[in-house]
Amino acid sequence: MRQSAAQGFVALTVKYDHMLMWSEQFATGSPLVDTQHRMLIDKINQLEKLLSGPPPSKAACDELLNFLGSYVTMHFKFEEQCMERAKCTVHQRNKQAHAAFMGLFEKFKSRYQVEGPKLELLKSLQTTASDWIKSHILSVDIQLKTCLSS
Ligand SMILES: [Fe+2]
Repeated sequence: MRQSAAQGFVALTVKYDHMLMWSEQFATGSPLVDTQHRMLIDKINQLEKLLSGPPPSKAACDELLNFLGSYVTMHFKFEEQCMERAKCTVHQRNKQAHAAFMGLFEKFKSRYQVEGPKLELLKSLQTTASDWIKSHILSVDIQLKTCLSS
């Protein structure tokens, strides 16, 4: 019994190899920014789950991608205002990184409109977004903590 549970766990971890988990190391000192990061991580994980099962419908992909697009836009604006107000030295760097990500997302959307919900295309967005958000929060966003406390 124990062994099969362990095997099940291994299968689960292999299946969702880009699944992200929010942890204290992602904390920015702003509870609202952290809540928004948790939501983004949750949506990116939902995309991975959607792509791990039977081929998803275009409607399901449209809904998730539209939500992700508008939520990212809202979050970036909110976080940039927080950094500006707190006079963070990384404010411009943060804005540039956000603009670069939006550029990638726009390119993806153009391809999605032409190619539709191709697994390879969606997986590439999912892994790019997952790797990007983790690295961006840990290298840029967490610097908000120092600005808010000074
Ligand atoms: Fe950011």
